Amino acid sequence: MDIKEKVENILSGMTLLEKIGQLNQAGTTMASALPGFEADVDTWVTQMMDGAITKDEFERRISMLEEDLREDEVACGTLGNFVNLYEDEKIARVQQAAIKRSRQGIPLFIGVDVIRGYRTIFPTPLAMSCSWDIKLVEKMAEVAKKEAIAGGVNWSFGPMLDVAPDARWGRIVESWGEDAYLTGCFGKTIIKKFQEPDEHGEKLLATAKHFAAYGAALGGRDYNSVDMSLQKLFNQYMPPFIEAVDAGVGAVMSAFHDFNGVPCTMDEYLLNDILRERLGFDGFVVSDAEAVKQLVVHGAVADEKEAALKSILAGGDMDMSSMDYIQFLPKLVEKGILDEKIIDRAASRVLTKKLEYGLFDREYQYDPEKISEATLTKENRKAAYEMAVNSAVLLKNDGVLPISEKVKKIVVVGKLAVDKEALMGPWAFTGEKDALIDIVEGLSNACPKGMSIEYIEGFSPVSTDMDNISEVLMQVKDADLVIAVAGENAFMSGEAASKAELKLSGKQEQYLLALAKADAPVVTVLVSGRPLGIRKIKENPGINAVMAAWHLGTEFGNALGDLLFGKRNPSGRLTATWVDTAGQEPFTYNHNNTGKPGGDFKFTSKYLDAPIEPLYPFGYGLSYTQFSYSNVCTDKECYCMNDIAKITVTVENVGDRDGAEVVQLYVRDLSASIVRPVKELKAFSKQFMKAGEAKRVTLEVPIQNLGFYNRKCEYVLETGDFKVFVGHDSCQCLETKIVVTERG
Ligand code: BGC
Repeated sequence: MDIKEKVENILSGMTLLEKIGQLNQAGTTMASALPGFEADVDTWVTQMMDGAITKDEFERRISMLEEDLREDEVACGTLGNFVNLYEDEKIARVQQAAIKRSRQGIPLFIGVDVIRGYRTIFPTPLAMSCSWDIKLVEKMAEVAKKEAIAGGVNWSFGPMLDVAPDARWGRIVESWGEDAYLTGCFGKTIIKKFQEPDEHGEKLLATAKHFAAYGAALGGRDYNSVDMSLQKLFNQYMPPFIEAVDAGVGAVMSAFHDFNGVPCTMDEYLLNDILRERLGFDGFVVSDAEAVKQLVVHGAVADEKEAALKSILAGGDMDMSSMDYIQFLPKLVEKGILDEKIIDRAASRVLTKKLEYGLFDREYQYDPEKISEATLTKENRKAAYEMAVNSAVLLKNDGVLPISEKVKKIVVVGKLAVDKEALMGPWAFTGEKDALIDIVEGLSNACPKGMSIEYIEGFSPVSTDMDNISEVLMQVKDADLVIAVAGENAFMSGEAASKAELKLSGKQEQYLLALAKADAPVVTVLVSGRPLGIRKIKENPGINAVMAAWHLGTEFGNALGDLLFGKRNPSGRLTATWVDTAGQEPFTYNHNNTGKPGGDFKFTSKYLDAPIEPLYPFGYGLSYTQFSYSNVCTDKECYCMNDIAKITVTVENVGDRDGAEVVQLYVRDLSASIVRPVKELKAFSKQFMKAGEAKRVTLEVPIQNLGFYNRKCEYVLETGDFKVFVGHDSCQCLETKIVVTERG
């Protein structure tokens, strides 16, 4: 029997309620087990995210509650899927309830945010994207999948494919930066790795989220409205989803916000006309958490019954966490308001994936030994280390890095250097905090014999005063080098972590500027989920180097230590522009030119109080060596529509250390029927080069990729002249030109 027949077979034996159960996804519930003990989980979550209580304290409180695993609902067939259940033993229990106690014995989808690893945590996606290294991201996906599957997870709510042009938006940390092409490259790699069978035939269902254009939230404020032209949607936000669908992604998550006035959860135009009809998606759509219920809050429907009806009619197949489908859809069908065929359609989409992803072929025994053999292994940690080394971006260096062997005493200042919870960063709930190597540990592991490392707390991202600064300056007096660690705690980026300012929080900037006056050179390590406005730090000569370390994951300290001591050479390059101030956002390298591009003349497009140039541009990053570019040439002058242009450039490592360079290629369509961006990334290649080595590097650009979506949303490729830029980042490039004609 093929899968289609099997699905029909299963469906024909199901009651209406059981079918709707397959469209229902929920978490476990918590109730207070102790008399007089108030269980206010929402408040505790808020407190933890605001830093008022630690994660440990949060978990302690949760452990005092009685958790209902909802095995009875599973057994009745009214609950067919779980969200964010990641304790291995509990997963096995609910699966047992499904296969042994439910009438149909249909296993559950256990969906979890596998965003940056599972037990072994990798850098945040924004950090990983700075590696520009597809192979390393593929390895991350392989490790994450192995660990998640060992724990019983069979569905990942990721990768997130939202293009993120605005650093105010906290979820930029989960993105692959501001470029749609790069986002698509990483996204499809993860999807393929998750979904292809591994050596044991295991697959992990992937989700492309959040559909659509969530990264364009107005003002960078999370969950906020998006109102944009369809041509912008297609040119700047849709390409990664097109790649995802082409790669066969099994699930898509609709977004929280309203798009052009209609909440995505109930937007038939987005979910049906675009996603299914136009892109050809054939998996199932899951809502975001409680987003069905939230339609009432949006003011888009009168009540939760209408919310459930509109969502399922629009093509939202599964309800995450609202419980509205299970509560209202049965009645709506019984009353003849909703055709049962719509339920069958959604249920068959879900069941098809359950069959395709082998859920019926697995055993659901809890086997702690097998889990521990698969997780946090040496090999997994090595992959996380390699990814971390490649993700950090060296922003500034006057030569103080790598740390010289003459340095005898290093003083590390800043609580972030040892705060494992903060260093873990967002979306690391499945990870093990205690497995993380903090910055002081990492520096101690990497430092040569005879060098001492001392740590002083000094300040933190939430410090509100500088009362101890003179004392700290005294303590660093005899240091040969100060490493100041500043930035963001775990919940200062991620979901619901938007910011109206991009500057360092609390007193950190003042603290760093005060430390800059110390006799010893100062290296600033920035731990953050987003680009920060750090012009004063950049321009202060007393701060000798700045490393954007992001949240690097389990191997944080080891990777950073090896980079600072020069055992490894930094090679990360920014994938999101850094600006001075939030008022410049959204700011991307691939903007249109305007008719009056900023210049000296008064009447040009600029600000009175902020530059129009980025603080650090897209593609930027330093190395301990230098690369020079020369002799850019193309294999032809004129190309026809089906050609692949080959652009070749000489790259030379002119420094005295081996290192890696990301050769970047951008294109500008000089004249088109709609205004095209000043530059768009079309190809890149990461090259490892020995000191002194020179190479001819060829990048290929299919001419078809030079097209765009016009105002009618048709993809068109227009003939004419295109400028080609090849170089080190989006600002430092050599230029050449190509012509696209009908016949080449
Ligand atoms: C997020 C999703 C996530 C879901 C489940 C939501 O709040 O927006 O990205 O997958 O929670 O954790």
